[in-house]
Amino acid sequence: MLKCLTRKSDPVSKAQSYKLRNRKYREENIIAEGGYAYIWKCENFAIKRILIQSQEVYKMAMQEIRIMTKLPEHPNIVKLFDFGEIKIQNKMFVCLVMELCQSNLFSVLQNEILTERRILDIFKQILDGLEVLHAEQISHRDLKLENILIQGETFKLCDFGSGSNEIIDLSQLNKAQLQQQEELFSQTTTITYRPPEMIDVLTRQVVDTKVDIWQLGCILYSLCFRKSAFSEMNKIGIAQAIFEIPQSQISISTVTLIQKMLQQDPKKRPTIKDLKISLYGAIDEDEWGEFQ
Ligand SMILES: Nc1ncnc2c1ncn2[C@@H]1O[C@H](COP(=O)(O)OP(=O)(O)O)[C@@H](O)[C@H]1O
Ligand SMILES: [Mg+2]
Repeated sequence: MLKCLTRKSDPVSKAQSYKLRNRKYREENIIAEGGYAYIWKCENFAIKRILIQSQEVYKMAMQEIRIMTKLPEHPNIVKLFDFGEIKIQNKMFVCLVMELCQSNLFSVLQNEILTERRILDIFKQILDGLEVLHAEQISHRDLKLENILIQGETFKLCDFGSGSNEIIDLSQLNKAQLQQQEELFSQTTTITYRPPEMIDVLTRQVVDTKVDIWQLGCILYSLCFRKSAFSEMNKIGIAQAIFEIPQSQISISTVTLIQKMLQQDPKKRPTIKDLKISLYGAIDEDEWGEFQ
């Protein structure tokens, strides 16, 4: 989307130097492309420089910064070091300076055959990162393979622009408000990972952190079966949570976990804690707290 808007001489795709809050940065080369941003390497940092083309893009960039600065530091959440707004040739940009990672989970899946043991190790790391968000009542809402980064052997959540701490009860909205929400969902989430309550707003369910559990189900499915659980051509299939489990070596317990996460009714989907209990039989010792 960004590529077609830019030329070589354009400030969007040309390396820039600028000062943010903490220090000066000199961009080196583009390492990835996002919807409205190029990701630049700069020494040991990755800088997401977002072209602010509209009020909506600005809102998402601000939300991404707000969430990243609010979250406590955690190995499974990409670190934000610095941020700021800059103007180059009358174009406005928001810059996020992050720790530099090597790749994302989409590329890992393309380049490696993953054993079930490794899949579950990756999944546990994603759960650990997401647990931090859910503890703050924040849902990510755009969890997908491309938004999980890898650095060494550590997997890290990134891309918090769609995140929200709102719980939306669609049964309380009128028709116009419902339509508005549906439009917002389609702008801020990825269709093949969008849960039934967002695809078919007329079912008037509650939209909350269970959106992320559906998306976790889509991720685990893709890791296990090397394809998407849902096709963007089949919205009815997504709305009714219809998917097939291919023949494979994957254990019944992992398949059952996927089925629990990909339930049409968000209330029936497990919480992060439920998932951890299913995976490990018990929750971490430090989570027992006063009941020890
Ligand atoms: N800190 C980082 N280190 C290395 N690569 C990154 C980093 N942040 C993002 N990327 C790469 O850039 C891609 C797009 O970044 P993302 O934040 O997801 O942008 P968008 O909001 O446009 O999707 C990611 O899928 C990943 O491949
Ligand atoms: Mg992304």
